[in-house]
Amino acid sequence: MIMKIASKSTVLVSTQDLCAGYGEEQILYDVSMEACKHEITAILGTSGCGKTTLLKNLIRLFQPWSGSVKIFNEEITDMDEPELNAILARVGVLFQYGALLNSITVAENVAIPLRQHTDLSESMIERLVRIKLDLVEMGHTLSKLPSELSGGMRKRAALARAIALDPPLLFCDEPTSGLDPMTSADLDHLILRMRDDLGISIVVVSHHVASIDRIADKIIFLDNGRVLFQGSLKEAKSAGIKQIDEFFRNG
Ligand SMILES: Nc1ncnc2c1ncn2[C@@H]1O[C@H](COP(=O)(O)OP(=O)(O)O)[C@@H](O)[C@H]1O
Ligand SMILES: [Mg+2]
Repeated sequence: MIMKIASKSTVLVSTQDLCAGYGEEQILYDVSMEACKHEITAILGTSGCGKTTLLKNLIRLFQPWSGSVKIFNEEITDMDEPELNAILARVGVLFQYGALLNSITVAENVAIPLRQHTDLSESMIERLVRIKLDLVEMGHTLSKLPSELSGGMRKRAALARAIALDPPLLFCDEPTSGLDPMTSADLDHLILRMRDDLGISIVVVSHHVASIDRIADKIIFLDNGRVLFQGSLKEAKSAGIKQIDEFFRNG
């Protein structure tokens, strides 16, 4: 008889009692959370509750005040620069204000991480850039400047850049912000494809209810810098927590 062993999900990102802030001002209080492999974990909460701050501390754009942050099971809070860079080379990041460089083409933007972190030949870089842009259905924009693209197209190009190095883990901050409902839905489908076809695990910050409904496997709900709830989307909606109910009601 074959025994089926219940497989425990692999945790790719976790914090324990993370405290963080800016200057003297504390923003995050004892945040303990985890995000698992092959899942989309959405960090939710009203504007100003600390979602972006959490994301930035997860990748040490800011140095946490105290507590633990693990990525791929490695403690990153006290890593030196080369060690941290080796970890971050395996992490894609899509920031809210997508920050494509405006003076260079879409193809050159997508090539940036490849040039920074690999010593691949020019022709190989060109091929990889084309593959990544095709993946996000932007192959026809190779030689365009970001200013020639619509908002949704810029997000796609930024996504192609974020996955240029085939990261197993992707962080996105408000990927659908500023997009109309149709374009948001398209981008969400693309994010789902990243999970399902490419096997990328995704941590996404959002306060966009329609988008969360479409993509989130798990949620982490922040309230004034504290974790109010973490679990599946379904559990969150039936937990009977006032702030969460309000969040889903008001969008
Ligand atoms: N670079 C910064 N310096 C100082 N305060 C900041 C900075 N970034 C954000 N804050 C403050 O931290 C709080 C949380 O912000 P943020 O993490 O951006 O919230 P959210 O992403 O949930 O909207 C806000 O009060 C904001 O004003
Ligand atoms: Mg934010």
